[in-house]
Amino acid sequence: MVNLDLTGRVAIVTGGSQGIGQGIALCLADHGADIVIASRTAGKVQAACAQVRAKGRRALGVPTDVTNIDAMRALVDRTQAEFGRIDILINNAGGTAPGARQTLLNVTEEGFQETFDMNVKSVMFLSQFVAPIMQAQGKGAIVHVSSIAGRHNELSRTGFAVYGAAKAAVDVLTRSMAAEWGPTVRVNAVLPGMIDNGRATPSRAPERMQARMATVALHRMGVVDEIATVVTFLCSDAASYVTGSCYDVDGGNTSLHAAI
Ligand SMILES: NC(=O)c1ccc[n+]([C@@H]2O[C@H](COP(=O)([O-])OP(=O)(O)OC[C@H]3O[C@@H](n4cnc5c(N)ncnc54)[C@H](OP(=O)(O)O)[C@@H]3O)[C@@H](O)[C@H]2O)c1
Repeated sequence: MVNLDLTGRVAIVTGGSQGIGQGIALCLADHGADIVIASRTAGKVQAACAQVRAKGRRALGVPTDVTNIDAMRALVDRTQAEFGRIDILINNAGGTAPGARQTLLNVTEEGFQETFDMNVKSVMFLSQFVAPIMQAQGKGAIVHVSSIAGRHNELSRTGFAVYGAAKAAVDVLTRSMAAEWGPTVRVNAVLPGMIDNGRATPSRAPERMQARMATVALHRMGVVDEIATVVTFLCSDAASYVTGSCYDVDGGNTSLHAAI
């Protein structure tokens, strides 16, 4: 039988208050984990905690900006004080700053910095703070939510080069962390394709969407649960021999792109 049981394990999920992160937090809770939700907006953090508690798990909300090093340290300290252990870290918070969502000639220094802080600095230092705790416990699993935008330019399009560069850096960190922190800590990444995070955007006009979905083998966007299940597997003992891997969960977009 596949063992996905996470009973008694404590998981920090950054950006766990909505979208993919919320889906991951709830899926981990469904499999027995207690959850720490860490994102900036206190009201949304508490609402997500209530959903975790409704599943019978313990939840701690720590409003956190993952671009801020002191806030990341405080998140780890609060979790230790409340639960006394950290078994799972999901580095999910990320995205593109407006100043980076530009053609390359128009990218601003501020947008570049913000995007790298949000996606790369957060992954680097939160993992650095948590790994020694996992090593002292003898076991731990870290999963970064990266993106296929770091692999190729198919769905990522003009305006996403800086974001793609940041996510490519996350993939490199995944392999290096796995090498340095094995055999105790397993570190993997999931690379979503285009996922419906529950927020429609104006760029998702039907004709544009149709053209973009033609580049996806499964001809549709993914849903949050399709990312959450892969992340949950990677956190579980069922993935005990998986580390340093970057998993595309993109409906076949990368494979079609590579085949051309
Ligand atoms: N959706 C997609 O199609 C897609 C595709 C590939 C990769 N991804 C990646 O998947 C991850 C989640 O994406 P999503 O679509 O679910 O995003 P989302 O719906 O915009 O949610 C982002 C979450 O992160 C939090 N957050 C943002 N900035 C933060 C910060 N500085 N510190 C702490 N928390 C922060 C947000 O809450 P607050 O604003 O309250 O802080 C929110 O909870 C991201 O890393 C993204 O790059 C998404």
